Amino acid sequence: MKNTKMRTLAEPFRIKMVEPVRITTEEYRREALEKCGYNPFLLHSEDVFIDLLTDSGTGAMSDRQWAGMMMGDESYAGAKSWQHLEAVVKGLTGMPHILPTHQGRAAERILYGILGGKGKVFLSNTHFDTTRANIEFTGATAIDVMPEHATDPEIDLPFKGNIDTTKLQELILQHGSTNIAAIIMTVTNNSSGGQPVSMRNVKDVRNICDQHKIMLVIDGCRIAENSYFVKHREAGYEHTSYEDIAKQMLRLADAFVMSAKKDGLVNMGGLLTLKDDALSQQCTNLLIISEGFATYGGLSGRDMEAMAIGLKEVFDPDYLHYRIRSTAYLGEHLKAKGIPVVWPIGGHAVYIDAKKLYHHIPVEEYPGQALVCDLYTQGGIRCVEVGSVMFGKYDANKKLLPAKNELVRLAIPRRVYTQSHIDYVIDVFDDILEMREQKRGFKISYEPPFLRHFTAQFEKLT
Ligand code: F0G
Repeated sequence: MKNTKMRTLAEPFRIKMVEPVRITTEEYRREALEKCGYNPFLLHSEDVFIDLLTDSGTGAMSDRQWAGMMMGDESYAGAKSWQHLEAVVKGLTGMPHILPTHQGRAAERILYGILGGKGKVFLSNTHFDTTRANIEFTGATAIDVMPEHATDPEIDLPFKGNIDTTKLQELILQHGSTNIAAIIMTVTNNSSGGQPVSMRNVKDVRNICDQHKIMLVIDGCRIAENSYFVKHREAGYEHTSYEDIAKQMLRLADAFVMSAKKDGLVNMGGLLTLKDDALSQQCTNLLIISEGFATYGGLSGRDMEAMAIGLKEVFDPDYLHYRIRSTAYLGEHLKAKGIPVVWPIGGHAVYIDAKKLYHHIPVEEYPGQALVCDLYTQGGIRCVEVGSVMFGKYDANKKLLPAKNELVRLAIPRRVYTQSHIDYVIDVFDDILEMREQKRGFKISYEPPFLRHFTAQFEKLT
């Protein structure tokens, strides 16, 4: 197609099945939110108009994937659908051992359960919350190694998801290379704003791993989205296809964990792939105990068929361009309105700097949670706080040690919402801007010991 820069970015698909969504009143939503302790994770989904809670497992499958579902081979062992998936994933990763799991965290629990344990240290650009939880659950330590500037929401750099290789080397020396269980590169870097990681950075990490004999794991649930940024931002990749960029990056790793609920374009599924024979055997034993036989993990044949098709479709240039540009569309329009967003816009989500937007709410009163609740009350939009509710800790006196940033994530499900849905979200921010000075924070009235954001309860401060 000719230069389409000045045209509306129209979705590269037609809709042939629709799912009605309910439009509720502000009063109804106020009550619903109060009933669930001001934690939108506990809302009923039919009470949500636009659900931007996550891009995980919330995408729409294509007609080809649905057709594949009908072809799923449900044999217990050695199913055709497994062979299809295995061939696609071997082609993508170049790794010999492919283990299917029911979702990403199952792959994490198996791999980090074996590599972890007391005294072990994992280093990562940023550990996603389930990654950190699975590591810490084994008694090991998870350390994020971000460059200082990357946590500044405003600084405009092409690869803000990169790991700080200088700090990484210092930490290896400090802890001793034999205690480093693995280096995990999260691609794109979800918790730091969905920012991409450059090929250069992964190559540098590979060299460091070789030097110290450390294992390199890629958590690549958004590897296709990352490839888009590499092609368009990193010199030397302009003429490489998105799929080949992903292949090159994955060939630098020793292991790959993937929640296929993102770039696998499926509603459920995960993968663990490995180079090492002995480690793979250990992982397979655990897989069979906890997930299922080695040729289905926790998945049905139809799930594997849809995933095999999704992992090819996701690299379609029209799809990826639409995906990344439509996320940027939301971010750019919010920025133009004066909403402080993490810049540049990442792949799967727009992150809002709630500390700046709700500057009058102290971090101890969770400004991010306040914004999450207001977006629901004003517009029926559900999203998630990525700040001190998610990552805050306490000191010995139970005083909050806040997260570095107080962000709110608007994650975009794949192929689900049209531009008019997104325009509606942009409009709701007018109300937020108008009323923000009257907004108040929250205190936590209940919290579990792990991953508290899922089930915490809040009280509104007046
Ligand atoms: N790694 C990353 C980078 C993730 O973003 C996620 C999930 C996982 C691992 C775990 O995968 O959910 O299939 O078990 N992220 C979702 C999110 C939940 O909303 O960002 P899972």
